[in-house]
Amino acid sequence: MDYFRNKAEEWDSPAKIEMAEKFVNELLKIHTPSSDKKVLDFGTGTGLVGMKLSGKVREVVYLDSSESMLEILKKKLDANKDWGRTIIHGDITSYNQRDIDLVTTLMALHHIENIDETINYISDNILKPSGVLVIGDLTEEDGSFHNGDAVPHKGFKIEELKAKLEKTGFELITSYVYNTMVKGDKKYDQFIMVAVKSDKK
Ligand SMILES: C[S@@+](CC[C@H](N)C(=O)[O-])C[C@H]1O[C@@H](n2cnc3c(N)ncnc32)[C@H](O)[C@@H]1O
Repeated sequence: MDYFRNKAEEWDSPAKIEMAEKFVNELLKIHTPSSDKKVLDFGTGTGLVGMKLSGKVREVVYLDSSESMLEILKKKLDANKDWGRTIIHGDITSYNQRDIDLVTTLMALHHIENIDETINYISDNILKPSGVLVIGDLTEEDGSFHNGDAVPHKGFKIEELKAKLEKTGFELITSYVYNTMVKGDKKYDQFIMVAVKSDKK
């Protein structure tokens, strides 16, 4: 079941565009990929993060499990005449080239059931040695963010996610809350976490 099927058409709202911009701006303060780098945007949705990076790096791989979200992305890339794209429909195991310098993922991880497996997979099969992983997501919330819809994770405890990355062999560069979203009378914090894969793995 594609949770995003009915959300795709309206995804690119000013709020979502601003959210992606804030994340990319924060990311670039910490880590600026050089123009020869290859990026994979995991849970890319309509590509709001990946497209922000595409002019700055050699190639962006857009990966998502929602066909509807990717349809919108394709239309935007076509309109921009951006043919140097790679779009992959599937989960993280749909890519295994181990040639990626930077994995970005914004607001997707809380939709992923098995975080340990996913982090392991990114480390073993996606990132090059010394590759960088940048996660943007919610800190722990009370479940109201998705209006009561069941999603695998009600945000994350920063310390717990950090420990998972370190257990997998990543070195933590930084993690902190960089944004607070207001929805009705509720506030939700978003964190950024930047980690580097070992140069020996
Ligand atoms: C909240 S949206 C975020 C989209 C985009 N990153 C953004 O910030 O606009 C989460 C995205 O993760 C995708 N997703 C959820 N589970 C996934 C999985 N197992 N593999 C790949 N993508 C997944 C969804 O289809 C959706 O497009």
